[in-house]
Amino acid sequence: MKNVLIIGSTGQIGTELTLELRKRYNGNIVAGYIPGAEPAGELLETGPAEIVDITNGEQIADVVSKYKIETIYNLAALLSAVAEIKPQLAWKVGMDGLFNVLEVARQYKCAVFTPSSIGVFGNNTPKDKTPQDTIRNPRTMYGVTKVGGELLSDYYYIRFGVDTRSVRFPGLISYTAPPGGGTTDYAVDIYYSAIRNERFVCPIAAGTFMDMMYMPDALKAAIQLMEADPARLVHRNAFNVTAMSFDPEIIYKNIRKYIPGFTMEYNVDQLRQSIADSWPNSLDDTCAREEWDWQPAYDLDMMTQDMLSKLKARIQVTLP
Ligand code: SER
Repeated sequence: MKNVLIIGSTGQIGTELTLELRKRYNGNIVAGYIPGAEPAGELLETGPAEIVDITNGEQIADVVSKYKIETIYNLAALLSAVAEIKPQLAWKVGMDGLFNVLEVARQYKCAVFTPSSIGVFGNNTPKDKTPQDTIRNPRTMYGVTKVGGELLSDYYYIRFGVDTRSVRFPGLISYTAPPGGGTTDYAVDIYYSAIRNERFVCPIAAGTFMDMMYMPDALKAAIQLMEADPARLVHRNAFNVTAMSFDPEIIYKNIRKYIPGFTMEYNVDQLRQSIADSWPNSLDDTCAREEWDWQPAYDLDMMTQDMLSKLKARIQVTLP
């Protein structure tokens, strides 16, 4: 029996994490959503859903109290590129929202998982095999809220004993719900173009390496870390985790192994490129491996095979 609230349950991670948690735990796994992003289909049919706007602390507290929530997955966020366009809203959701969640967690004694990101790193951070404990000096609002979020989460653990835990997710690749406005989104979009036999226009330049991960591994990381023995955790907010690192040429060539006629051209988006240039080429996730046995299952080739077959099935279903 475990009662969990997922804030942002209809987003890229939330859609899949909520269903996975419902398979694992037989308690109330509550899909929190905001009006305009209502759950549908399986997400709606398999468990309770409640309006939970992260900027409304009372609303979070009411749902936590109603369902006797023990763990909150706080997935509300604006991704990096869109956060540069709406920095005020990104702060409101990322920082004020997290503060609301942590305050409710303090009062109701909940554990909290809030994803952090490779976005916490900046131009002065070592780029290759970026260590767990190193300079975090982002120049994006997304990065500022993620660093602030890590610090605030650690503060609530140290000061109030709130069981906060987090990972620094790399770009997440999935076929269920799309990401919204991230720098790494190209690595999702490229598969959609490939499966639709369209020429892909890549907004990130060749030679730009970033860490990436397939969604099943991301779900595993989020759940495994929250289930980890706290006595083993030296770090909390947040662990470097990665599964692979590639540039646009590498993923393009990998897809062409399975769809030889697939073509790509570049039209670099300056905002996304400058964000990508400030992020690591590859992360060192040794601490996650040592402290809670982190181990990804998918490499690029396995991910490509799975993405292409799942997208093919999905797109055939959704085409008129
Ligand atoms: N995928 C995110 C982004 O691109 C990084 O955490 O914004």
